[in-house]
Amino acid sequence: MARVSTPLSEKLGLRLPLIVAPMAGGPGGPDLVAACSAAGALGALGFAYTQPDDMKKQAAFVRSKTHQPFSIDLRVSSPSAPIDPAAQRGALDSVAKYYAELDLPAPEPVRIPYAPELDAQITAVQEIRPRVFTTHLGALPKDRVDALRAAGIVVGGTATCIAEAKRLQSLGYDFVIAQGGEAGGHRGTYLREPADALTGTLALARAIVRAVQLPVVAAGGIMDGAGIAAVLALGAQAAQLGTAFIPCPESGAPKIHKDSLLAAREDDTRITEKFSGKPARGLVNRFMREMEPAPQLEYPAQNKLTGPLRQASGKAGNGDFVAMWAGQGVAMSRALPAAQLIEALERETIAALQSGAALVRE
Ligand SMILES: Cc1cc2nc3c(=O)[nH]c(=O)nc-3n(C[C@H](O)[C@H](O)[C@H](O)COP(=O)(O)O)c2cc1C
Repeated sequence: MARVSTPLSEKLGLRLPLIVAPMAGGPGGPDLVAACSAAGALGALGFAYTQPDDMKKQAAFVRSKTHQPFSIDLRVSSPSAPIDPAAQRGALDSVAKYYAELDLPAPEPVRIPYAPELDAQITAVQEIRPRVFTTHLGALPKDRVDALRAAGIVVGGTATCIAEAKRLQSLGYDFVIAQGGEAGGHRGTYLREPADALTGTLALARAIVRAVQLPVVAAGGIMDGAGIAAVLALGAQAAQLGTAFIPCPESGAPKIHKDSLLAAREDDTRITEKFSGKPARGLVNRFMREMEPAPQLEYPAQNKLTGPLRQASGKAGNGDFVAMWAGQGVAMSRALPAAQLIEALERETIAALQSGAALVRE
């Protein structure tokens, strides 16, 4: 049977040039990762909020289900710093009425640490030794990148502008993920104001392919094989899809998130900082709208502050306070088990590439 392959997909041992995005915070749990890797794509564990012991348990679970390669992704954010008490008060006051509405006890001041320590997480990655490791929201120093590569790990990083892609190249990274402004979830921007780094996937992926000598993976708004074929035609060596996999039964997203994606229109997404303190794209809901003018904490303290609201709201099947991350391709969402979705994506990519070739006249 025909197969689509690129030098990067061959190097990573994939059946097709498809990375299923790391999706920290629930959607991309180990069940989804194992199912995607077993089906020939690269599944990715998004460990932004995961402590080292749990990282090891989840990686062992994936390995118990499949011998195929998988990836681990971490967010490179600064260590937790103490919060100014007035800022803390303002942020608590702005969410207190929502806590009361959901019958939750009044919100407590957020205390250090707000997220797992990056050094300990990287040590865990070195122990786990996944085939691929990626960074989001920042870059690691060169000696760290060298040490991971020396352990046989292929290292990638997210860029949302050409400067970030060049920075990754200068630090010895193996590949760049070009995250277009359409992308669901957090913006990976770290050298610019995130609002200034929203170039769309089509323009960004092509510009980065031309600007660096590394393989490029395109991400943002890609939902089917025609989208994958399009970014391969731009010179990308793989596509990274997140939103497309959230409705899968293996994804850990709350049912209201999955149902809302399947019902969404193409212009239902916006970028908000109110859930985590960093800009991220998701379906507009009441929390996003009402919180727009309200004070917030910095990432990741704000994420901790909104955690109980997001969880209680998701459990109650109420989408008002759930972070329903989604990219601009959301209207093309479909509910299929991961292996079937990957099969469909492969078939569609081959068909799109073949129909593109058929346009050429000698
Ligand atoms: C729910 C969700 C969580 C995400 N979490 C991460 C993450 O932890 N690390 C990361 O590098 N990217 C994360 N992303 C962004 C993806 O890597 C990717 O850029 C995005 O999904 C591509 O756009 P699409 O959702 O339109 O396919 C997340 C995306 C979503 C939808």
